[in-house]
Amino acid sequence: MFSSGPGTIRPREDPKTSKVTPVMNRIIKKTQLSAEVFRMEVEAPLIAHERQPGQFIILQVDQAVGERIPLTIADADPLKGTITLIFQAVGRTTHLLAEKAVGDSIEALLGPLGQPTHVAKVGHVVCVGGGIGVAPLHPIAQALKAAGNKVTVIMGARTKALLIMEEEMRKIADDLIIVTDDGSCGRKGLVTHPLKELCEQSPKPDLAVIIGPPIMMKFGAETTRPYGVPTVVSLNTIMIDGTGMCGGCRVTVGGKTKFVCVDGPEFDGHLVDFDNMMKRLRAYKPREDADHHAHHHCKLEDAANALPKA
Ligand code: FAD
Ligand code: FES
Ligand code: MG
Repeated sequence: MFSSGPGTIRPREDPKTSKVTPVMNRIIKKTQLSAEVFRMEVEAPLIAHERQPGQFIILQVDQAVGERIPLTIADADPLKGTITLIFQAVGRTTHLLAEKAVGDSIEALLGPLGQPTHVAKVGHVVCVGGGIGVAPLHPIAQALKAAGNKVTVIMGARTKALLIMEEEMRKIADDLIIVTDDGSCGRKGLVTHPLKELCEQSPKPDLAVIIGPPIMMKFGAETTRPYGVPTVVSLNTIMIDGTGMCGGCRVTVGGKTKFVCVDGPEFDGHLVDFDNMMKRLRAYKPREDADHHAHHHCKLEDAANALPKA
């Protein structure tokens, strides 16, 4: 695991002014994939060299507003020394990140974190991605395909404009099924519908990998359970330190306490207590919503006053 922040600054000298500026975690490419989703290529040579599919980083955008958030390493180029992050601007920190431009730096990056995906040849794998979950699913689907599996990808989103990485997935998938809630692209419905149909076929899939909002992973796992299709989910709990010390990412799996940052993020979907996980994810919702509101509309003090009194 590598940490690049104030302790690992690589200075750069401007040839014209001879001014030396510390540069680290520089954003070298930025594209917008949909209204709220951004792709960023960031200089992080050590992480790019070490990372494996399924792993993530924790970043801090600015020192002054120091929240740490986890993002999956969607791709990496060890030769260029870059990692790719794909993220949805949902709240304060992801909006701050989205406002960064090419040439700007991210204050601190820690990674690669978490256990890599167990990649093996098992036969037919169904990879199910919902919303931004398609981004973390992509490197896993890629690795499963490279290991010799037949890969069926089911991608779901609320509407066509929110679908991401269709072309990238099409390159990997033997079959690609698109589902939207409103029917604006592909089939109308939920990802669980084609998943159920695949489980009813003979032979049924040998493995399902489901990544998306917790409610989607919960119902995806319930869909495969009666058919006995082994199901892996990647959990998106709240994380703070990412090293197993703070307990923020605690979940119950098969009746045992696990820490998503060090034991996961992937677990047996049939054993995860999703209801408990969703309850814990909502724990800071008033604070998160106040911060998000403050970022867009008013000063932080106003937002703090708007919080329910303890
Ligand atoms: P906020 O308004 O603060 O929070 C919005 C929601 O995000 C919260 O309700 C909560 O569910 C979640 N969240 C808030 N703070 C944290 C935190 N510190 N850690 C984790 N979740 C938090 N998102 C992506 O868009 N792309 C990814 O590749 C991606 N990979 C992830 C990998 C892992 C292992 C985990 C655990 C999460 C991943 N996420 C990813 C989710 C991402 O971390 C959250 O969207 C982000 O933290 C939201 O922060 P915010 O301040 O913008 O929003
Ligand atoms: Fe702190 Fe996992 S993030 S224990
Ligand atoms: Mg936040």
